[in-house]
Order: sequence, then structure tokens, then C-alpha cells
Amino acid sequence: MSSNLSSASHATIDQSGMDALIKATATDMEAVNALILSRAESHVEMVPQIARYLIEAGGKRLRPMLTLISARMFSDETGHQINYAAAVEFMHNATLLHDDVVDESEMRRGKPAARKIWGNQASVLVGDFLLGQAFMMMVETGDLPALRTLSSAAAIIAEGEVFQLSKATDLSTSDKDYLQIINAKTATLFEAATKVGAMAGQASSAQQQALATYGRELGLAFQIVDDVLDYGGANGALGKNTGDDLREGKMTLPIILALAKADKNETALIKSALGDTKADQKTFNDVLNVITKYDALEISIERALKYAQNARDALTELPPSKTRTILADIADYCVARVS
Ligand code: IPE
Ligand code: IPE
Ligand code: MG
Ligand code: MG
Repeated sequence: MSSNLSSASHATIDQSGMDALIKATATDMEAVNALILSRAESHVEMVPQIARYLIEAGGKRLRPMLTLISARMFSDETGHQINYAAAVEFMHNATLLHDDVVDESEMRRGKPAARKIWGNQASVLVGDFLLGQAFMMMVETGDLPALRTLSSAAAIIAEGEVFQLSKATDLSTSDKDYLQIINAKTATLFEAATKVGAMAGQASSAQQQALATYGRELGLAFQIVDDVLDYGGANGALGKNTGDDLREGKMTLPIILALAKADKNETALIKSALGDTKADQKTFNDVLNVITKYDALEISIERALKYAQNARDALTELPPSKTRTILADIADYCVARVS
């Protein structure tokens, strides 16, 4: 397993699943990107300035591509998937703008976070704008069940972020609490992304459910890996600073697992480092040593692999196809990824 982590830092991972997803959705993504840019427009100059700053920095666009490929699995595409994919990416970008304010993050998508340039207030407000525009795009399709799926996701994501905040630096945070947090803040949007894609493809309710389960399990794996990368990823590849979670006092799986085995001194070390915004590299390294001593990154990755397997298992409900293979490969990519 440690070879998995060390090879990750050398960026030798298998990108083929992601490459296939990009290729399969390229034409639709052009329409989605055009919609995204047009809906980021506003007569208030600062709105498109900030929105475009984040949008043009790219990101992986994984969620909208999942929406598109989920619709593609079925022959009856309604065309709604373009609006849903753009809405999902807007919701994601809105949560990133808000999340960087809450987490006091410096970097996003390889650039200074928007809040470092325009400030917290503008970041929060433009996040709200994107969320509003996301709802406009959903409403335009007139599909109430899809609107219900996405709007309930927006509420649950915010709930998850608040729950996480209330647990910051709380050493008694359990594995179960952590799962509840990542389920809400991350897996919910992945689930909504694949589910509304299936809805746009007019899939049966059993097929919608299979893709929803795939999305949820994939999202859990994705966030666990994000939390591992925060302790082990190479700064450059990730596009955001490592060590943020410790400074923020975030009770992520590597810390929870390490604390479960730590002795008194190690627990005291972790306790004093958690939430210390001025923690230096040495403190980070000391904490990382405890995490490494108890194999907490490897065990976290094993957990992520389990969720990725659950995601792949959910696909067996769907007929074999090229798109199904791509989704299965994406589950592997989400665990192996370095950025
Ligand atoms: C970042 O998501 C937020 C998490 C849920 C960990 P991504 O890693 O998908 O961010 P971008 O869109 O590629 O920048
Ligand atoms: C994911 O959590 C954020 C959202 C789901 C909004 P993180 O706080 O770990 O995400 P990054 O690391 O800042 O991208
Ligand atoms: Mg964050
Ligand atoms: Mg993170």
C-alpha cells in the first residue's frame, strides 16, 4: 500500500479511465462549458470576474462529466443533461468559493483562492450567485424530480459543512461522524450528479437508483482520497496547499485513525497541532510521523478502495456497455488520483 502512496506522488497513475471519460463527453462538455460561461455573466462586473477566475482555472469537471455519461447510458436522452451538468458544476463551484472562506484556504485549482484576491465577502456573495444560477438552469427543464434531487443536495451539502465545522478540533469525533460528514458534503453531490444524468436519460427507477448508489459510493472514496492527499500529496499536483486540514482542525479519517492508536504524548501532540493556524512544517511533520507510524494513510486508502468497489458493484445492475466500463474505471481513478 505504501507503494500506492509513493507512486502517487510521482504522478504515475493510470489516467485511462479519466481520459476515456473526457473523450466520451467532449462534445456535450463543449455545450456545458458554453452554458457555464454564459450563465456566469452579469452586469455587475465583479460577478463574472470572480466566477470566471474560478471557472477558467478549470478543475477536473468530474461531476458534470458524470452527469453526461450517466445520461448517455440510456437511449432516450432528453437533452436536459446539459443544463443539469452545468448546474452541478455551478453548485460545486459555489461550494468551493464558500468552502475556501470557511477553511481560510490560500490556494484553489493551482491559483490563489478567490478570497485572497477579492476577499471573503465577495467570495461568499458570488458563491450565492452561482447557486442561484444553478437553480435557474434546473428549473428551465421543468423536471420536478430532478429539481428535488439537486435542491435537496444543496441543503445537505451545507448541512455537512456545518456539521464538520461543529466537530473541528473535537478529538472525540468518531469514524461514524466522519462518514456522516463526507456523505453529506461530498457524496451527496456525486450521487445527485449521476442520478439526474440517469433522469435526463429517462432511465427506469431501478437504473436511476443504481447510478445514484454508484455516485454516492464514488463520492465517499473521492473525499477519503482528498483527505489522504492533504497529508501526503505533492503540493504542485494537488493545486491546493497540503496540511490545510490539520491547521483547520479538520477531523479527517487519517487523524481519527491515528488518534485511535496514539499514546498519551502522541495524542497531546495532535491535540495541540489541530486548529493551530500557525503550525509550522516541523509540527506538520511530527503529526505526519504519528499518522505514518499507525499506517493511517494506508488504512484510509483501503477504506477508499472498499467504497470504490461498492461503486463498481452498483454498476452490475446496469447492462454492460462502453459507458459502464468507463464508470467502472473512474472508480479506480478516484482512488489512484493525485490531483
Ligand atoms: C474538491 O473537488 C472538493 C472536494 C470534494 C474534495 P475536486 O477535486 O473535484 O475539485 P476540482 O473541481 O477538480 O477543482
Ligand atoms: C470538500 O471538503 C468541500 C466541499 C464539499 C464543499 P474539503 O474542504 O476537503 O475540500 P478542499 O480540500 O478544500 O477542496
Ligand atoms: Mg476546504
Ligand atoms: Mg480537502
